[in-house]
Parts: sequence; structure tokens; C-alpha cells
Amino acid sequence: MLKQKLTLLVFRLLRSFLPVVRFGKNYFVFRHRDVTEILDRDTDFTISQINAPNIDKYTGPFILGMDRSPQETRESEILQKAVKRDDMAWIEKIVSQAASDLVDKARPSGSIDMVSELSLVIPWHFLDQYCGTPGPDMPTMQHWMRSIFYNVFLNFSNNEEQIKEAEKVAAELHQYLDQLILEKQEAIKKGTYDGDDLLARLIRMQDNPATHLDNDGIRRNISGVILGAVDTISKSAVNIMSQLLMRPHALRGAQEAAKNNDFVLLSNYAFEAMRFNPFNPVLLRHVEHDTKLSSGKRFKKGKTVWSVVWSAMFDPNAFSNPGSFRTDRSYKNYILFGWGMHRCFGEYVNKLELPIICRELLKLPNLRIAPGKEGKIIYDSTGAFPDRFVLKFDPETP
Ligand code: HEM
Repeated sequence: MLKQKLTLLVFRLLRSFLPVVRFGKNYFVFRHRDVTEILDRDTDFTISQINAPNIDKYTGPFILGMDRSPQETRESEILQKAVKRDDMAWIEKIVSQAASDLVDKARPSGSIDMVSELSLVIPWHFLDQYCGTPGPDMPTMQHWMRSIFYNVFLNFSNNEEQIKEAEKVAAELHQYLDQLILEKQEAIKKGTYDGDDLLARLIRMQDNPATHLDNDGIRRNISGVILGAVDTISKSAVNIMSQLLMRPHALRGAQEAAKNNDFVLLSNYAFEAMRFNPFNPVLLRHVEHDTKLSSGKRFKKGKTVWSVVWSAMFDPNAFSNPGSFRTDRSYKNYILFGWGMHRCFGEYVNKLELPIICRELLKLPNLRIAPGKEGKIIYDSTGAFPDRFVLKFDPETP
């Protein structure tokens, strides 16, 4: 809490006195208006130089590594078309069922490691049932997703051991998906598979030239989608719960909302908690050419911009009285899932999975962080992803 308060204080000072700071090859941007303008001006502040080298290397080209181009437009439209209106109800069912089963299992013990027993398991059910890509088994899939995600987006120190592992894992994922696509294609052709999932939809969409992706295109796109769907959810759920558990008043309000099945209010609690500790505190862009923002700030071609969305979400011009925890804020100013053309494709999933995971925990009687060492959030060897966060509650026999 102290570290967070200090960070937010530093952001406040920077927003007031140095809203754009240049440090070597990098600019750091702190105000909401500047951050959102950068993310909106996607031809001046581009993404391919940031993301394409690693995305191309590990999974093959994908929209999150592409700037505006016919391929980007076509492939993001195909992904959007693969999603149906009724999917929300379907995802809600998958996630609610899995979450309540998992929490029920823990109920008699009065203790749950919310990561290994819940928040990392739920995304696997989503991959299995909705995406149609369960992997060889859950632990393998969790490891593949984490290793590749880390090396695509977060391995800033170029840790060799991590790179080697991700190269190996990416080859395994590639082979697994190639095989899975061929098998599903064959089964759909023969009429032995009439199931519905994202992968099956992309395969069926091959029949229409407007939505046809070759098998490599399907593999690239499904890889990109599933990659962002596991540790993002798990870590965000941990961030939300730890923020709520630190604030007795907010915790009580969220528990009431969960108990009353008030999903809208519960979501407001979850996303407000996430504002205090977002999964993506910054989003990176490349300065395509010399340019300036409407605030007058100038940027030199070739530099990298660190858009500090965490600070932007504490800018009083966008969030009144930003230090207070409120559930009546307008969702439109939050930058929890990106902004502009690369805004999260899975936002409709996040808006279900995160509140549902939290709801099942919040309904537990006398929920609290485990005392002492046991209650500390334990991160993996990279320090990027939580592996363990133990919560206690009054045991119940189901
Ligand atoms: C809490 C969980 C999640 C968080 C915090 C999150 C965050 C983000 C952010 C910040 C971006 C934009 C990155 C940028 O502009 O540089 C993004 C893009 C994306 N996300 Fe998510 N994400 C989450 C879950 C998901 C899920 C569940 C899926 C898949 C179902 C997904 C798929 C994607 C894809 C495909 C993009 C790229 C969109 C594009 O380039 O047009 N994400 N996500």
C-alpha cells in the first residue's frame, strides 16, 4: 500500500510539473489527455516496431504487432466476425460453473490459493471450451502461454534462459496447433465434429473467400488470441482481490454486491480496484515521425513512448478525486484494456471473467488474506506473474 501511495504521489507530481519526460531514447507521458491522444493517433505513434519482432518470432504475425494495413484490417475483422452475440451468455456459463465448482472444492478447508486453485484454472476452461484449444493438458498450456507471453511483451532484459525456453515452447505450440487444425478440419469435413468453438468457427469460415484464412493464418490468429487470455486474467484477478482486501469499506461493498448478485455494481468494484493496480501500467508506442500533441508536446522520430496509463487513470481531469475509491465512475475513461485501434479484443471476456472470479471469492464467509508469510503474493521466477495468493475464510461443508 505504501509503495502504491508513493508511486501515485510521484505520478501526481509528474503530471503537474513534467507531464512528458524525455529520458534518452524514451519519452514518458503521464496525463490522460496526452496518453489517449497517443493511443488514438496510431499512424503517428505506431506499434509494429515495438511488438512485431517478438510476435513474429514466437507465434507469427498478428494484429497486435501490426499497424494499419490491409492485412491488419482483414484479420481483425475476421476475428470480430468469429465472435457471436450469444457468446456472452455461453462464456458466463463456462466461467460461472468452473468458478463455483473450484471454490466449492476449497470450502471445507477454509483456505484457497486463489491463483493455482482458481484464477489460473478459469482461463484454461475458457481456452478449452470457448477457444477449442485445451493444449495437451492444463499445466502444459499454462506454461506455454506464460513463457511466450513473457518473452513477447516483458523480457526487457533479454534473459537468455527465458528466451531459450520460449523458443522451445513456441515450437511445441506451433506443432500442437498445426495438428489440431488439421484434425478439426478433417472432422468437420467428415461431419464427425459439429461442436462450436472459436477454432472451429475460423475453420468453417475458410469456406467463404471473404473470411478465409489459410491454416497458417488460423494458427497465427488463434495463437495471438489465446496468448493474451491466461496470465492477464489471473494477475488482474489477484490485483483486484488484493486491492479490495486492503480496503475494508470497499471489500464490504463488493461482498454485498456479490451476495445480492448485482453484477453491474460488482464490476464497478472490480474495475475501480484494478485502476489502483492495472495489469498494464504502461503501453508502448514508436514515434513514426517528428510530431507534436495538441498539448504542444513535441516528439522526435524513432524514439519510444511509454504511455503511463496507470498515471492517466489518476489524472483529475478524467477521474475526479482520483485517489478515492468510487464505484460511480464512467467506464469510458478507464484504460485497463488499452485504447484506440489495439484496444483489447478480449474485453468482452474480461468483463465477465474478472467479476465472476471475484464474485465467487467474495461470497465466502469472513474472507481475509492468510496471516503472516502465507498471505504474501508469491511471484514466479520472472517476477511478472503471481503463482500463489492464499486467502482464508470460515470453513463450510457444502
Ligand atoms: C484482464 C485480462 C486482460 C488484459 C488486462 C488485457 C489487456 C490488453 C491491452 C492493454 C491490450 C492493448 C495493448 C496495446 O495497445 O499495446 C490488449 C490487446 C489485445 N488483447 Fe487483451 N487483455 C486481457 C485479456 C484478453 C483476453 C481474454 C483475450 C482473448 C480472448 C485478449 C486478446 C487480446 C488481443 C487479440 C489484443 C490485440 C488487439 C489488437 O491489436 O487489435 N486479451 N489486451
